[in-house]
Amino acid sequence: MELQEILRFADEVVFSKTGKHLDDLQQAILRDTFQGKKYAKIAQDRNCSEGYVRSSACELWKILSEVLGENVTKTNVQSILERAKVYNFSPTIGSDNITVNNVNICPEKVRSHSPTQQPQQTPTETHIDLGDAPEIFSFYDRTTELATLENWIICDRTRLIALLGISGIGKTTLSLQLIEQIKTNFDYIIYRSLRFSPTLNATLTNLLQIFPHEADIPQHIETQISQVLNYLRQHRCLIIFDDLQMLFASGQLAGQYKTGYEDYQLFFKLIAEVNHHSCLLLNTWEKPREIAKLEKSNNYVRTFVLGSLGLAAKEILKERNLSDEDTWETLIDIYQGNPLWLELTASTIEDIFAGSVSDFLQCDAPILDESLQAQLDQQFQRLTQQEILVMTQLAKEGKPVALPDILKIVELSVSDLVNAMRSLGMRLLVEGKEEEKTTFFSLNTVIKEYVKSRYMR
Ligand SMILES: Nc1ncnc2c1ncn2[C@@H]1O[C@H](COP(=O)(O)OP(=O)(O)O)[C@@H](O)[C@H]1O
Ligand SMILES: [Mg+2]
Repeated sequence: MELQEILRFADEVVFSKTGKHLDDLQQAILRDTFQGKKYAKIAQDRNCSEGYVRSSACELWKILSEVLGENVTKTNVQSILERAKVYNFSPTIGSDNITVNNVNICPEKVRSHSPTQQPQQTPTETHIDLGDAPEIFSFYDRTTELATLENWIICDRTRLIALLGISGIGKTTLSLQLIEQIKTNFDYIIYRSLRFSPTLNATLTNLLQIFPHEADIPQHIETQISQVLNYLRQHRCLIIFDDLQMLFASGQLAGQYKTGYEDYQLFFKLIAEVNHHSCLLLNTWEKPREIAKLEKSNNYVRTFVLGSLGLAAKEILKERNLSDEDTWETLIDIYQGNPLWLELTASTIEDIFAGSVSDFLQCDAPILDESLQAQLDQQFQRLTQQEILVMTQLAKEGKPVALPDILKIVELSVSDLVNAMRSLGMRLLVEGKEEEKTTFFSLNTVIKEYVKSRYMR
């Protein structure tokens, strides 16, 4: 069958589902896939990232699968399209009915693949409302992180993602960059920081004002939730709630909502369980408990732990007046590739060490700048007494220790210790490494120095 003929047919199929024709990239993916080209090569030819091509391809296979009622992949797409064309498959816009040899049928397979409700309207352009999001002036690397998140959101249609990371690691920056990368896939993109702990009622009222509405915004939380879910079904939306940790109580184990905020749990659960094609991304220092529970049984819920920026952090250091570039890697290692910690430390090196990184490293690093300490104070103020006790013991240890050894040195019951360790893990304050079926726990250099200076001197 002629390539052009199959492409035209694929275009009809996609149009029947999305109301949009194949874009340039989708056409290239189909054409090149038929010729056996790998995603990496397609990306290279088109001067874009492999992750981008991969997620566009996944999205395309998904649309084709849903309309044709078969699991379309890179390897079978050509034969499935050819077969469907030969059997005179005729996609009908917004309908599950297909025509084979002019007989109208509605196969179960196709029906079970289609979402319960089709978007009622397709806005022509993406509505972007970033609220009070900070402006990003420079952005380095995070290529794999962006590709993974893009894949999860666009291709796997993950509905609820927790972007977990210690303060300053770059969650806000990464999520705003992600918007830039994937915005054309959405009808609505909304960013809201929860730093002032808005109630769910306030948050949903705010969200509902963004979508087109004729009547007044409902007052009742149940009606608000159901209206928001309706919008998430009708439109493809990406909603980012930043600083989710502000909804969690201080002085309690990680991820417990403050009194009056518990209904967020139900909202997140519904986002995960109700059928829609939108995504809610939650940026947080602490892993929400319901996410930990939901992700065990629900494929649409995932956690992404954001770690070191790695050597790309050198670019941040280059923006400063620093010397001794050959020592920067050590500096990045000590400060865990945390962009904010490195920015704050770079200021100290500029101000006190005339920009000499090696002079700074000669001192007993890590030196914790006052503002870095203040950053960590905010996180440590949330810990329970038991967690502080564990942290001070771990700070004394020269090497990683296993749970039974910690039990010998802290005056805690096994249950209290296990709960404290789990909670510290959810806050990313303790590192655990598995060796020969035993987990060994330790603190990174900055956290260890902080605990020593705040609690042990
Ligand atoms: N990939 C990156 N490239 C450049 N700067 C970054 C990057 N990630 C974070 N930063 C910088 O580090 C600081 C902390 O980042 P931020 O996104 O606010 O962290 P978080 O939200 O995790 O607390 C900001 O000044 C930001 O500009
Ligand atoms: Mg942030």
